[in-house]
Amino acid sequence: MGSKIVGLGMQVPDKKISNHDLEKMVDTTDKWIVERTGIKNRRISDPGAANSDMALAASQKALADARVSAEEIDLILLGTCSPDMALPSTACFLQSKLGASNAWAMDVVAACSGFLYSLSMADSQIRVGRAKKALVIGSEMLSSFLDYTDRSTCILFGDGAGAAVIAECDDNDGLLACHMQSDGNLWELIHIPAPGTINPLTPDLISSKMIYLRMMGNETFKHAVTKMCEVCHKVLSMSGYDIDDVNLLVPHQANERIITAIGKRLGITGDRVFINLDQYGNTSAASIPLALTEAKAQRRFCAGDLVLLVAFGAGLTWGAALLRM
Ligand code: ACO
Repeated sequence: MGSKIVGLGMQVPDKKISNHDLEKMVDTTDKWIVERTGIKNRRISDPGAANSDMALAASQKALADARVSAEEIDLILLGTCSPDMALPSTACFLQSKLGASNAWAMDVVAACSGFLYSLSMADSQIRVGRAKKALVIGSEMLSSFLDYTDRSTCILFGDGAGAAVIAECDDNDGLLACHMQSDGNLWELIHIPAPGTINPLTPDLISSKMIYLRMMGNETFKHAVTKMCEVCHKVLSMSGYDIDDVNLLVPHQANERIITAIGKRLGITGDRVFINLDQYGNTSAASIPLALTEAKAQRRFCAGDLVLLVAFGAGLTWGAALLRM
């Protein structure tokens, strides 16, 4: 028994913020952003919008694509680090809005690796017989946690949601191999300091900007390339395949230079690497399911193709999965 993606869906906010819009907000240029990241546009939610509403729209599309009803879902795993509220989980809000009354639901907090971590956990639950059909989502509204006066972070991120319906399949189909890893020693590279138990809510937290995402971009970049290459090699060797067998690499969409470096090191380039970060920026946990949904719509892979997914994010967390589509 294995598990397979049988439906995909995505949702992004209507509001588009271009590099030229950001030029009016911080000391940056379209040229710098395109050359250093590859990003041209990102989608941003209206203030007060709920992450779970975006996750809901993506999930409904994935369920329709899979021809599966919400009541058939046994498990909802939602990768996010930008929840509706501190409590309850965004997955529970989503369950309620979806009417998935037979499911148990929880958030998976693994930043940009949230979708792959969730996919790996859903696969395990299906393999041990605790679920037959799972809904795995990556949904983020990081715009709520960004300082739009900090040019080093606000230009990078966008909002979005991607969802996948996972169902039982034969052992040699669907998810062939996956490996997840983390290194909490490197937490400081990407973090949102407050509010939390270490920095409880006080009136001066906002003026001190501790509620916003902080990133040591340059150092993070080096770890991203190294770790994502390592974990791709691991998953390929676990499954007995070679990079030449892979039809499409769908990497986390953080920076085009990172993607190019990984592709070169792994030996996979050109049309065999999917990139859509120019339009959405880094959507954290949503990045891989957004990319996978668009890749399917663009017929960048066919039934039976091998697709390699790889993610990296705050934690640090990283992981890869090889799928027979
Ligand atoms: N516009 C113009 N100049 C800028 C901007 C900007 N928006 N941002 C930074 N700069 C300047 C810096 O101030 C610096 O100037 P200095 O040389 O005078 O000091 C110069 O550009 C170079 O800055 P670096 O930070 O070294 O730039 P770098 O080439 O590393 O690019 C970036 C920065 C895009 C953030 C890159 O490091 C990166 O993509 N890092 C990895 C991000 C990532 O993978 N994150 C993981 C997931 S995120 C999550 O988990 C939530």
